[in-house]
Amino acid sequence: MTSEIESSQARTQKLEGLGTRRKRVEDIRFTQGKGNYVDDLKFPGMLFGGFVRSPYGHARVKSINKEAAIKLPGVKAVLTAEDLKPLKLHWMPTLAGDVQAVLADEKVLFQGQEVAFVVAEDRYIAADAVDLIEVDYEELPALVDPTRSMAGDAPVLRDDLKDKTSGAHGPRKHHNHVFTWEVGDAAGTARALAQAAVVAKEQIVYQRVHPCPLETCGCVASMNKVDGHLTLWGTFQAPHAVRTVASLISGIPEHKIRIISPDIGGGFGNKVGVYPGYICAIVASIVLGVPVKWVEDRMENLQATAFARDYHMTGEIAASPDGRITGLRCHVLADHGAFDACADPTKYPAGFFSICTGSYDIPVAHVTVDGVYTNKAPGGVAYRCSFRVTEASYFIERMIDVLARKLAIDPAEIRRRNLIRKEQFPYRSALGWEYDSGDYVTALDKSLAAVDYASLRDEQRRNREAFARGETRRLMGIGVSFFTEIVGAGPIKNCDILGLGMFDSCEIRVHPTGSAIARLGTVSQGQGHATTFAQILASEIGIPAENITIEEGDTDTAPYGLGTYGSRSTPVAGAATAMAGRKIRAKAQMIAAYLLEVHDDDLEWDVDRFRVKGVPEMQKTMTELAFAAYNNVPPGMEPGLEAVSYYDPPNMTYPFGAYVCVVDIDIDTGVTEIRRFYALDDCGTRINPMIIEGQVHGGLTEALAIAMGQEMDYDEYGNLKNASLLDFFLPTAVETPSWETDYTTTPSPHHPIGAKGVGESPNVGGVSAFSNAVNDAFAHLGLTHTAMPHDHWRVWKTAQSLGLAAG
Ligand code: CDP
Repeated sequence: MTSEIESSQARTQKLEGLGTRRKRVEDIRFTQGKGNYVDDLKFPGMLFGGFVRSPYGHARVKSINKEAAIKLPGVKAVLTAEDLKPLKLHWMPTLAGDVQAVLADEKVLFQGQEVAFVVAEDRYIAADAVDLIEVDYEELPALVDPTRSMAGDAPVLRDDLKDKTSGAHGPRKHHNHVFTWEVGDAAGTARALAQAAVVAKEQIVYQRVHPCPLETCGCVASMNKVDGHLTLWGTFQAPHAVRTVASLISGIPEHKIRIISPDIGGGFGNKVGVYPGYICAIVASIVLGVPVKWVEDRMENLQATAFARDYHMTGEIAASPDGRITGLRCHVLADHGAFDACADPTKYPAGFFSICTGSYDIPVAHVTVDGVYTNKAPGGVAYRCSFRVTEASYFIERMIDVLARKLAIDPAEIRRRNLIRKEQFPYRSALGWEYDSGDYVTALDKSLAAVDYASLRDEQRRNREAFARGETRRLMGIGVSFFTEIVGAGPIKNCDILGLGMFDSCEIRVHPTGSAIARLGTVSQGQGHATTFAQILASEIGIPAENITIEEGDTDTAPYGLGTYGSRSTPVAGAATAMAGRKIRAKAQMIAAYLLEVHDDDLEWDVDRFRVKGVPEMQKTMTELAFAAYNNVPPGMEPGLEAVSYYDPPNMTYPFGAYVCVVDIDIDTGVTEIRRFYALDDCGTRINPMIIEGQVHGGLTEALAIAMGQEMDYDEYGNLKNASLLDFFLPTAVETPSWETDYTTTPSPHHPIGAKGVGESPNVGGVSAFSNAVNDAFAHLGLTHTAMPHDHWRVWKTAQSLGLAAG
């Protein structure tokens, strides 16, 4: 029996299934420089596209002269809105129910907007031709401050919407208004605020930032004029949705469109939407009959593709004197830029912002969001977060600290008093979400013990005393954050994009020799799906992960799925993978019963084989069963061993975590050192702990970027002042501290393997931990809230405003 147990352990190990620190299979090609990205694609006769872009934030296009460009040798075509008009392709629908100009139609509305598209023999000729195109603009007053958007005298930005009193998300109350979205109990919250012993109020701005993936956006469009098939390779996070949208826009039947996402160098939400470059490349390929490549450069990516955040939040939080929260109200002014191109599920124009009651048992809450247009790039994507969840988390985590300060209660203690208790799950929040599972107090306590929080506060007290005596010019800040994410969009009843329900899928084929291929509707952009989805299957069907190929991103082969963003891959496609695996196992069990001449109920699963209960030596391995599936199945059963699952999750998953950040600030320079960052994450069942740690490291680095330096900085004319990586903060190993990671495991009760998403959690929890730490450093000096980003200069300005640093 001992040897039997050992052999079962050895077999389990060989599978490299759930919970294994399996090395990433993708890295073999990435570390050898053998990745296959869009810009690596080369085809005979391929042409290259480039854009003329607006230098103005807001201007009328009086004329476009393309004569000189067309005469340049090597230039094949120049497209403007006039050329696209007969095809009705000069405007395109956005994911948010708005429309966006493909090429500027009489007006430009943001700096960097696409005005004309040049197609040439190579990228260099295209760039020269772009310079030869003369556009005559009449500059108009620009609107960059969303708080001015709905002023009576604000310039009309969208001429096409000027007289429309309603939009995709209900009534519009001003010519620059996009929508109002409201959730919660307005009257009850007003009562709670009026009756409260204490109300803390604060303006919290989450600045505009950019996902800035290392690989920019791009595509190659190839129209085969003989058979009418269009193939589009591109940096798409959701290739099937792109196929459906491309078919609807172009009129090309969907079966004649093939979308392929090859390797993608980071997406972070930036590669979810449809950009004018895709449309122009397709039109150019249709017109010219050859493949056309368009790949944007870094400045184009920063200037014109989807931004994130730009949420201007006013919060009021009510509490009893001992810090029990009794109500929460929030109004958001959301800057959507020139076109509403937010990538949110249709019914949620402000995403899942209503998760803003966070991890706390708040009895009543009310949220309103006003979306407005400005002369900035469109977007509003879920940059490493699930649809406005980072904004929500930042909001509540700052509000809790502001309240703690007002009540003179320790920030960790006020959190503990209000955290939802383990026995309250499944927990229905005041704003309507049903949190699936959690053990928050354990997570908080574990994190505070791990960093020895009491000693840190002691040290801070001594530091403050020394500072007051003039013995040091450094201040210490401790930031605590506790977050709850909402990932895995989503149940079809709630979530769709352009009417497409947000299920996901997996199709598995087990080959006769016992290896397999699984295809999914998701797309990895660095998350390691080829590694981890094979692990799920290894545990489900008993085939070693190394014998399972995972394939994603080709709409001709993969089952329909809604793609990868919002940490939805594991909650939705991961569940589909487990369910398809179970179908395979169920069929294998029937075959095993037939071969062993027993009833299938008499069999039990043992890692990679079925055994007859009580007679363990009577067994059939998965390898034997795979072969039998192709030559010896029970009478009446179809041969083969394949399964497909389309999974509509019953609920979203709610990962959570507790983070602690310690900073040391030199008040004379503003230099802020991250002394320590501890991150405890709970993502339910852990598929691959090594990949999870990698995801947490990456997400925390992006949180550092956002909290400590990133901001899309527009001047009053709509000029983006930091459209290159010289000025836009992208941290390198030099700026990045060492991360301490930890975990608890609270499985999701409704996910087949109990897994929740994790990829975005560190960004959701990390930003507020950094910001709370910087704010905490100055809290004893009367500072209630200072806004992000906390770059050294701004931190020094804060010290100066408090009379600490010399001017
Ligand atoms: O949708 P996306 O892939 O961006 O996010 P995710 O579902 O959170 O998964 C990110 C990576 O972490 C994938 O390779 C997952 O399989 C892995 N993961 C894991 O190993 N265990 C979990 N409980 C959640 C994710």
